[in-house]
Amino acid sequence: MQRTLLLLSLFFAAMNSPARADVPLVIPNPASVVARSGVFVVNDRTRLVIPPHDAGARRAAIFLSDLLDRTGAVHLKRSFGSPHGMEIELQRGLVPTNGTESYQLEVLASRILIRAPTDAGLLYGALTLWQLIPPGTAGQSATLPAILIDDGPRFRWRGLMLDSARHFQSPAYIRQFIDWMALHKLNMLHWHLTDDQAWRLQIKRYPRLTDVGAWRVPAGAAAAKDLDLSTGRPRQYGGFYTQQEVRQLVAYAAQRNITIVPEIEMPGHAVAAFVAYPELGCAATPHREVPSDWGIYSDPFNLDESTFRFLENVLTEVMQLFPSPYIHIGGDEVQTGQWVASAEVQARARALNLQDPQQLQPYFMQRISRFLLAHGRRPIGWDEMLQPGLPAGAIITSWHGISGGVAAAEQGNDSILSPWPTLYFDNRQSDSPLEPPGRGQVITLQDLYSFEPMPAQLGTQQQPHILGIQGDIWTEHIRTEAQLSEMTFPRAAVVAELGWSNPERRDWNGFLDRLVGLQLRYRALGIPHSESVFAVRTSATYDLRVETAQIQLANQSGYGEIHYTLDGAIPTAASPLYVTPLSVPMPAQLQAATFAHDVQLSPTLQQQVSVDHALHRVSQELKLCTQKIPLSLEDDAPVDGPRAVFLIDIENPCWIFEHADLDYVDTARVAVGQVPFNFQIGADRDKIPLLPPQTHDGEMQIRLDSCEGPLLASLPLTPALQSDAVTELPPAPLRGPAGIHDLCLRFTQASLDPMWAIDWIQLLRQTLPALQGTH
Ligand code: ACM
Repeated sequence: MQRTLLLLSLFFAAMNSPARADVPLVIPNPASVVARSGVFVVNDRTRLVIPPHDAGARRAAIFLSDLLDRTGAVHLKRSFGSPHGMEIELQRGLVPTNGTESYQLEVLASRILIRAPTDAGLLYGALTLWQLIPPGTAGQSATLPAILIDDGPRFRWRGLMLDSARHFQSPAYIRQFIDWMALHKLNMLHWHLTDDQAWRLQIKRYPRLTDVGAWRVPAGAAAAKDLDLSTGRPRQYGGFYTQQEVRQLVAYAAQRNITIVPEIEMPGHAVAAFVAYPELGCAATPHREVPSDWGIYSDPFNLDESTFRFLENVLTEVMQLFPSPYIHIGGDEVQTGQWVASAEVQARARALNLQDPQQLQPYFMQRISRFLLAHGRRPIGWDEMLQPGLPAGAIITSWHGISGGVAAAEQGNDSILSPWPTLYFDNRQSDSPLEPPGRGQVITLQDLYSFEPMPAQLGTQQQPHILGIQGDIWTEHIRTEAQLSEMTFPRAAVVAELGWSNPERRDWNGFLDRLVGLQLRYRALGIPHSESVFAVRTSATYDLRVETAQIQLANQSGYGEIHYTLDGAIPTAASPLYVTPLSVPMPAQLQAATFAHDVQLSPTLQQQVSVDHALHRVSQELKLCTQKIPLSLEDDAPVDGPRAVFLIDIENPCWIFEHADLDYVDTARVAVGQVPFNFQIGADRDKIPLLPPQTHDGEMQIRLDSCEGPLLASLPLTPALQSDAVTELPPAPLRGPAGIHDLCLRFTQASLDPMWAIDWIQLLRQTLPALQGTH
């Protein structure tokens, strides 16, 4: 069958199933859907009628027809004027779900009508219709069941936070990102523009903020050696957004009902600004270069009047660029040590009658808040800003759980919920070795879907203070735009549904049904996205004596059917269906994928089933000894091209190879990498165990049963010193007792930086003739 027909069969199966008649496959799920009788047939002759002189309706129409074209669906002819019947009409008018983003979508046998009072409503009605028309119907007809949708969002803040400071995304990418947000009816882009590691927004009055503050040498030996031929110094990483680019992005977003809310961080997370203008800081030894460590620096702005003037001047330009009613001013993770140590700051505090250094931060944030309020903008701060004296108009982004949001609502301040770790998109989506780098904790799509935004403890008086929710894409570990997209989609679709749909309109299995259609559209639009929820994972137990594996196949959600092959053929929906664990004689090649309605939903898993594979682990398949700061950390080398990703607890680099079958094993092969230790973790750094090296450059040690067990093998690291990327060490003899054992893997090293990491380990058995001799 052709692909388009496959897609059609999926959609018609879903659409025409009586059990589903009231569930159109739309994300976010509409507020109210009533099935009607009859159908409307859309094809290439269907006109899309736009009221004359209505720019908003015209934009919605262009959106719809363009999206249909780009997803290979029927092509609609746009026309202006009065409708003749058998057409799709966009119409201004009041709708029952009376909100500024509401719309009504009516599919009748005689016509389709999208009605809304606002541009936003017309756009959202058009986006819903886009999802009702199957992709892959170009040149054909699509039959839509008659239906009445009355729709509007539950929350007015449905957002994503994009960290463009830690890593920079091009304006062209951000433009795409805005388009992709709009598809999900997301309406708030919180843009994290400044931090310790970069200042990314052009400020005309203070050009050094971007001339200096937007550029840094990345951490690590590879970057230090990567010389810029024009300067003879290490090449700098960075970039910034000019005011013209920002104006264009703001206008582009506005046409898609997206408000860009800029964030200018203060009083902490601002080292890049202090490097540009040292007079703003109060460190005893100021930074001379924009730093490349992640974590929490101890530097805040000082409290000089000239510093407040600087911030007000910056915010004045920010307000000219961003018409947003809201301006985010950070306020998180402020270290007060430098304030306490600074005679000038202490003198200012006494003059201000602030006895306690803990009062300085509220003073700082409230002073800036009042400045913004006086200029008609509402300040937003991370939940540390919730302190006595906060002005009523200020808004809290709750990230320490939802408690900041609850406390804000109880005292009459609005809040946005973005609790770590569930709403933090830098966490891994599964423990697969194929995931992009990120924080090591796994937050599945279902973990996110299970988040209910309205705190149960709030009464009806307080509930309106919860403006909505936001997913935060922190980019310390998200270096590339492709990685960023994959960490964001489809999680953005979940945030959209949580922010839009009432609890009774949400259910996980129904969401997965609808995600199937959205994923096909992601593929058609070329949106890099994660398919981790459908990806096939294996768990195997091996009996190496009889060279047989018991293999279980599953995907994270349990959705769809898994089909597999063992003969090297590419699996299709016609391949054997996985039902119970497979007993596989070795060697074999296993391939498997998830399918539903004949459509492949996951990448094809390819896995050798062999003795060698049974004795092989990549870092993500090892168990971390502890989970203090687990990261799936990207190597710093090579400078260009793909880099390895190591699962490592940077506060305790220690791994367990669980259940290793040591029968006949006589050799270990290990590949290792070195990563810069570029983490500001304060005094915790001194608690990281360093095992003393036994040879000059240290070793990788393998111990039996536990990290205190006998040393089975010790692999000198000298050969790996020459490469900043991954090095396979020379094979080392490893002979342990027969049977199944855990192995503890650690490094010895004299100092923390760079830190060694395991890429993979392979245990090898005696060669076959010797093996036969032992039987
Ligand atoms: C934050 O994660 N520091 C807001």
